[in-house]
Amino acid sequence: MDQLQIAKDHFAKLIEDQLVRIEKMKETKEFLNYDDLDKIVIGVVGGDGIGPFITAQAQRVLEYLLQEEVKSGKVEFRTIDGLTIENRAAQNKAIPDDVLEELKKCHIILKGPTTTPRAGDPWPNIESANVAMRKELDLFANVRPVKVPEQGIDWIFYRENTEGAYALGSQGIHVNDDLAIDFTVTTQEGSYRIIKAAFDYAHKSGKNKVTVVTKANVVKATDGKFLDVAKEVAKEYPGVEWDDWYIDIMTAKLIDEKRRKDFKVMVLPNLYGDILTDEAAEFQGGVGTAGSANIGKRYAMFEAIHGSAPRMVEEGRGNYADPSSIIRAGVMLLEHMGKNEKAAALARALDICGNEEKRLIVTGRTNGASSDAYADYIMETLEKL
Ligand code: IPM
Ligand code: MG
Repeated sequence: MDQLQIAKDHFAKLIEDQLVRIEKMKETKEFLNYDDLDKIVIGVVGGDGIGPFITAQAQRVLEYLLQEEVKSGKVEFRTIDGLTIENRAAQNKAIPDDVLEELKKCHIILKGPTTTPRAGDPWPNIESANVAMRKELDLFANVRPVKVPEQGIDWIFYRENTEGAYALGSQGIHVNDDLAIDFTVTTQEGSYRIIKAAFDYAHKSGKNKVTVVTKANVVKATDGKFLDVAKEVAKEYPGVEWDDWYIDIMTAKLIDEKRRKDFKVMVLPNLYGDILTDEAAEFQGGVGTAGSANIGKRYAMFEAIHGSAPRMVEEGRGNYADPSSIIRAGVMLLEHMGKNEKAAALARALDICGNEEKRLIVTGRTNGASSDAYADYIMETLEKL
């Protein structure tokens, strides 16, 4: 078969798969209501490198805060093994089937960082476990707050998490040695649900302001669609003010001290959201300080947004990794469960330990506090609140 025909067939298959995905999306209308469940199962996935170390600490803190719920059987923490780069490489799968099956038995997942292979690594160049989990569990809203109160920064990003450049990021075509093509995907349903989530949050939180970020002047079909859907959703929320920005000038304006305070809730396609949220987290002290919620209608997953730092483990410093970011993800997990008081207490304890009192400091080196000592410090602080 000639190269052109192979490429055409590949493209046809991708379109067919997306059409099937759209139908599935349309079937899931309502969000799961935790009040309807006898028991909420929280799956804990350690991941790679420092992941198991910091995730264990986040689990301890959450088990402490949810001790009554655990005792009464309302909440169960369940360890899920096997999402390691070694196992994923051995099975040549972003998420091995048995691991996925276990994940699907949970309602909420707390996940440590996982290694993302790329060409040239010792691992097969399989898809990122993060990206695969977001797609497999249809975690369409990646919610990332960034706050710097003294600078008037109070942002929340609604990053689309299952489409855009990521949807087919591992399924591009090398037509021949001269030509490689990737695809970006925007659907009506996929755009609607994320933009609606952003407007809904803006409305319910009283922030009443949404900024839609695209590059619709250049990327006309997909970003154009995202913006068109935003115009539709905006009509459902007459009380919410909204504007639209292009990603390039948006990236610049986050640095503009006078303008950046005006941004409140931002909603944007996947890749722009990936980039802008790293920039935004930098104002708060870097990606290591931010937590991230991945929300879908049936499942939700909470994670740190930093990497797995394998070198720290190779050098025996795994238990000196900073667990703050994944514990911040724990704040979002508690909020998601409707445990707002516990969430607020944990956020307060993190601020006291990390920004105010600083009795222990995690440096990432053996001269600093260990991860477990730091988690103890957070729990002692919680006890005093
Ligand atoms: C993130 C990360 C991931 C992404 C990587 C690890 C695949 O950068 O959560 O922002 O690109 O989404
Ligand atoms: Mg990122």
